[in-house]
Formats: sequence, structure tokens, C-alpha cells
Amino acid sequence: MTSTISASKVTIAPDYAHLCESVADRISARVQAKPNAVLGLATGSTPLGVYKSLVQRFQDGALDFSGVTCFNLDEYYPMSATSPHSYHSFMQEHLFRHVNCRRWLVPNGQAGSDAQVAETCREYEAQIAEAGGIDLQILGIGRTGHIGFNEPGSPPDSRTRLVSLAPQTREDAAESFGGLTHVPHQAVSIGVGTILEAREIVLMASGAAKAEIVRAAWTGSVTEHLPASWVRTHRNIHLYLDTDAASLL
Ligand code: GLP
Repeated sequence: MTSTISASKVTIAPDYAHLCESVADRISARVQAKPNAVLGLATGSTPLGVYKSLVQRFQDGALDFSGVTCFNLDEYYPMSATSPHSYHSFMQEHLFRHVNCRRWLVPNGQAGSDAQVAETCREYEAQIAEAGGIDLQILGIGRTGHIGFNEPGSPPDSRTRLVSLAPQTREDAAESFGGLTHVPHQAVSIGVGTILEAREIVLMASGAAKAEIVRAAWTGSVTEHLPASWVRTHRNIHLYLDTDAASLL
């Protein structure tokens, strides 16, 4: 018999499957309590099991996304939304083509002048504000300590903007792009400040490869050298880990 241990802010699940069910439970509860909830969603391999579970709940008739609005954290730049490598395609493939969500947005990764990119970033912030702000923000964590694509050096008041990817982040993405040379050097990411304005934050991590960065983010200094550490300043932050990711806490 496996069990999930939950302290006030930290939930430790015995394995990846239980981790994803716990996070999907939290999202479902939020949507059931507020059918027009605004969700902030993440890409990467970590939330894949969460999306699978949400799709299953929708197919079982237990969850309705028709009033929900979703904002994704980030998009590579330059990147066409229709590219198989885009986060737009990722979200369509793993969640949105399977459920009845009518309004989901991903930052615009199309190349343009600096002024055009800055304008689309301002527009994304305005769309979040017009939707009433993010009720529940789901985050993964990169091995550099990034949240979204807020790499080390990102201040707590940063907003949606064009960012440069750290070498380790590009290396981690190389396999999915078929080689490092194909990985973009930049991305459009919502800011740390944008993330911290969410009413509730869930940061999830799975696997031994994340144990060290989880330890540093959760128990080290709160610093812009490790952007994920900023979440500890949020009054409604919940950390969801499996035992491997929690092994150094
Ligand atoms: C990318 C995303 C992040 C995500 C991170 C971790 O860099 N921009 O939002 O948290 O990957 O990815 P994974 O979950 O695959 O470890």
C-alpha cells in the first residue's frame, strides 16, 4: 500500500503516477469550485501525467473546461505556433485537443521587430489581467532553477518578455529538437512577477535529477540566482514532489 504524505506546504507522493493524480485532484477541485477559473499551465515532461489525468476526468464526465481560461508560461523564440516543436503544439497534443476548453493562450513566439515582440508581451500581460488574474499556476522546475523560462538573474518583479536560455536549458532540450544546434537561444516567458501574482501556485518536480535543485530552491537562499526560490515568498505555494525529487530535503 503506497501513501502520499502531505505536510502543510509540501506533498510527497510515492511515485510519478501518484504525484500527477494529486496535482490533477487540486486542479479539478479548483475548476469544480470555480467553473470559470483561470489556470496557468506549464510544459515539459513533468506535467504530462497531470494532463493525461485531466483528459481522463473530462472523458469520464467529471470535469468541464468550457468556462476555463488557460495561459501557458512560455514559448520558444523564434517559433511558429504550428511547428511540432512549439509549446503551442505541445499543449494542443497533450491537453487541448482532448478537452472542451474554449480559451487557451500561449505566448507568441513569432519573430518580429523588438517593438513588436515587446508589444505582444504587453498584450499577454493585459490578457491575463482582463481574465481576472491567474487562480492556480502550475510550475515545473528546470535544472538551472528556472520557472517558466525565467533563468538565473530573473528578478522577482520581471514581467512577460523575451529571454535568453541558459546553456544547460538548451542542452536539456536538445534531444527533443534532434540536436543542440536546433534548439532556439531565446524564448518568450511570463515573468517571475507575473507568476507571483497568481492566487495559488503549485510547483511540481519528479525524479532524482531534480532533487538537488529542489533542495536548493526550497531550503537555500531566496535569490535571483535561483528563480524558483522566489515561490517561497508566496503565501499560497504548494510543492508537489515524488520521493526521488524529495530525497535531499
Ligand atoms: C522547460 C519549461 C519549464 C519546465 C522545464 C522543466 O524549460 N519551459 O516550464 O518547468 O522545462 O522541464 P521538465 O518537466 O521536462 O523537466
